[in-house]
Amino acid sequence: MPSDLSTTYLGVAFTNPFILASAPPTATGDMVRRAFEAGWGGAVIKTLTHEPVRNLPNRFAVIRNGNRITGFENLELLSEQTPDQWYRAIEVIKTDFPHRPIIGSIMGTADAPDKWLSLARGCQDAGADLLELNFSCPHGYPEQGRGAAIGQNPDYAARITAWLATCADITIPIIPKLTAAVADIRHIAEELAKAGAHGFCAINTVPSFFGFDLKTLRPKPDINGMTSYGGYSGPGIKPIALRAVSELCQLPGLPVMASGGIVNGFDAAEFMLLGAPLVQVGTEVMLRGFGLVDGMQQELREFMGWHGFTKTADFIGLRRNSTTSFGELSTGHGYRPRLLAKRCTGCGVCRAACRDGGYQAIGWNDLLPVFDQTSCSGCSLCSHVCPAEAIKMEISTE
Ligand SMILES: Cc1cc2nc3c(=O)[nH]c(=O)nc-3n(C[C@H](O)[C@H](O)[C@H](O)COP(=O)(O)O)c2cc1C
Repeated sequence: MPSDLSTTYLGVAFTNPFILASAPPTATGDMVRRAFEAGWGGAVIKTLTHEPVRNLPNRFAVIRNGNRITGFENLELLSEQTPDQWYRAIEVIKTDFPHRPIIGSIMGTADAPDKWLSLARGCQDAGADLLELNFSCPHGYPEQGRGAAIGQNPDYAARITAWLATCADITIPIIPKLTAAVADIRHIAEELAKAGAHGFCAINTVPSFFGFDLKTLRPKPDINGMTSYGGYSGPGIKPIALRAVSELCQLPGLPVMASGGIVNGFDAAEFMLLGAPLVQVGTEVMLRGFGLVDGMQQELREFMGWHGFTKTADFIGLRRNSTTSFGELSTGHGYRPRLLAKRCTGCGVCRAACRDGGYQAIGWNDLLPVFDQTSCSGCSLCSHVCPAEAIKMEISTE
């Protein structure tokens, strides 16, 4: 029997957990329509605002590892469509795809409730199932007191959340989208939970500067010889997103949509184990197109097969409590490296790392490393640097 990928979020049913993040792939209704035809479970529209948006040219920069883009930076603003264009588009898509939830995404300022309320009503009346509040864009808007400037200020963020949550005619769930660029994301989330938030999305892009072209000495992205700080996305931010989602799933415990560095179904599985019923994908769709969702679903099914999970509810939140405070971690186990001699190529990388970054615990004998168990502290560095995966960390019984 094929595994069932369906999931629910705040009472809204999704055929699969893969939804498009608010980003260029959801810039227009036509793009969302094509994404649904390709199999995406839902979509967050590119964030709507009342003010007209004019984007910069040349607004992206990347980090490459060989042919693969592993880091992406953008200086992009919000939706170039007007609210009315989006409301019409949402209505039409909802008629054609009644079982593919659409999530509105809106942004205003901390001093104008009417703008937030009118955008929220507009999305809801057009048929949006859920509503994301963009409290987290790290560039362009913070200098106007919007985006991450709101998500970094619990008073502003709670005030806006309360305007929407207490408004009798707004009945769809309110989901602040949070930034990880705060001292303690749980503190902000708890304030927002008290103000009436129903769930969270985490995280948005991470504040960044992508450096220089060393031949021209021009900054990246190069906008006439100058640049500005941007937002970092793609695989490099996955650990930051995992931490934020882990913390939010534990406290205050409202349901979280995960976003940040998800590029395949195995990444999705990790966020779902923490408790996220939905995963959003942005950058990877920009790089590889909507067709990516087929492979993502296959990979998630493969993961489920390894463990005998037949439905997503079998593992969503299963490892929610796998982190604890540092002080609670046990130091009592004697982890030690063991050499898988058949795999070892005798390259010596482990010895150099242990000598200059560890405990000088690796000697050499007959072309192979030998571990001095007395000086070894079991730190695991040798196992990570070994290019042949020939060193395994094991709990020592000695
Ligand atoms: C070019 C670009 C534009 C984005 N625009 C928005 C936006 O309008 N609103 C929003 O909430 N997030 C926006 N994001 C952030 C994404 O929704 C997502 O949270 C972030 O990129 C991390 O996910 P990823 O690593 O899958 O891209 C944008 C991201 C990119 C790369």
